[in-house]
Amino acid sequence: MKSRLTREDLEFLCSVRGTDINRYGTGIEVHRVDISPEEKEMILDFRADKSRRELEEGEQTPYTKTSVKVQPKPQTNKKNALLEKLAEQYTEEELKALAKGYGLSAPVEYDDRIKVGKVGRHKIGVFTDTHIGSKYTNSQYIIDALKKFEDEGCEFILHAGDVVEGVSSRPGHAFECSHYGFDAQYKEAVRVFGHTDLNIYFVEGNHSAWAKNAVGADMGLHLDQTLGNMHYLGHDMAVMKIGSVDVMLWHGLDGNSYALSYRLQKIIESFQGGTKPNILICGHTHKAIYIFERNVHALSAGCMQFQTPFMRGKKIASHTGYWIIEFEERNGEVLSFTQTFYPLYK
Ligand SMILES: [Fe+2]
Repeated sequence: MKSRLTREDLEFLCSVRGTDINRYGTGIEVHRVDISPEEKEMILDFRADKSRRELEEGEQTPYTKTSVKVQPKPQTNKKNALLEKLAEQYTEEELKALAKGYGLSAPVEYDDRIKVGKVGRHKIGVFTDTHIGSKYTNSQYIIDALKKFEDEGCEFILHAGDVVEGVSSRPGHAFECSHYGFDAQYKEAVRVFGHTDLNIYFVEGNHSAWAKNAVGADMGLHLDQTLGNMHYLGHDMAVMKIGSVDVMLWHGLDGNSYALSYRLQKIIESFQGGTKPNILICGHTHKAIYIFERNVHALSAGCMQFQTPFMRGKKIASHTGYWIIEFEERNGEVLSFTQTFYPLYK
């Protein structure tokens, strides 16, 4: 029977028959040639092999027919090569963070340019994880807290990150937002924090890191430049000087610990000698607790966002509320420290 063969088919057929291809002429791309049913089977196998090879190289062939069973594309070692490249560039901890979908923060450097307050006694409002733009944050509760800080005569306010809810690609996250998108959350944050003249010193957290890492949009920077009383100290962590003592704001990427105090203990334990702050204010886990360890007054500052469906699904409690801390310091030492928690109820 006559069949249409390409030049490549013909080369294959001639190699099987042991004939000279030139007897079919040169420069012709398609040939009509008499072949036996066995030869036709061999040519189909040859085409299937060729298709498979081309698929492996990422190229589709016009010969692929539904009648020809093409093996699924095997895992090439391109992925392994990429993984090896990542492994060379990052530490194990950074790789774990990437695998969990977190971004990587820039290294934190001590910045003692931020000095506020005279040496002596201080009364400061503290809150964190306001998650503005989340359906589970009531902006009015934040405005009420700002008023309470003013009424109580606080010098200023500290905020340990996750100022806004952010925008993530996690399935269903969009349905947890009251304000969706960078601009909507930015405008709502400006409206809310515009209710106070108190200075707010803050870091940002993993929620706003989504936009920062995706497109370089830094919510902290935007709020700092828009509102004269908001002072962005950096992403994730910062150290500032209040009077004569060091105060660290820490958001972090780690998760909840089995025991409430354990996270703070581990953070304090990890400080290299000579780098411990006098006071540590932590966000991120939405837990409220105070401990005093290794001469560090540490506060896990709770949150202003009620439990989300995501947290409920993971059995993570939300300690909603804010704090007012009072302390006396001199010559780099905290002489006394008290803290009052103001819980929020729905
Ligand atoms: Fe948070």
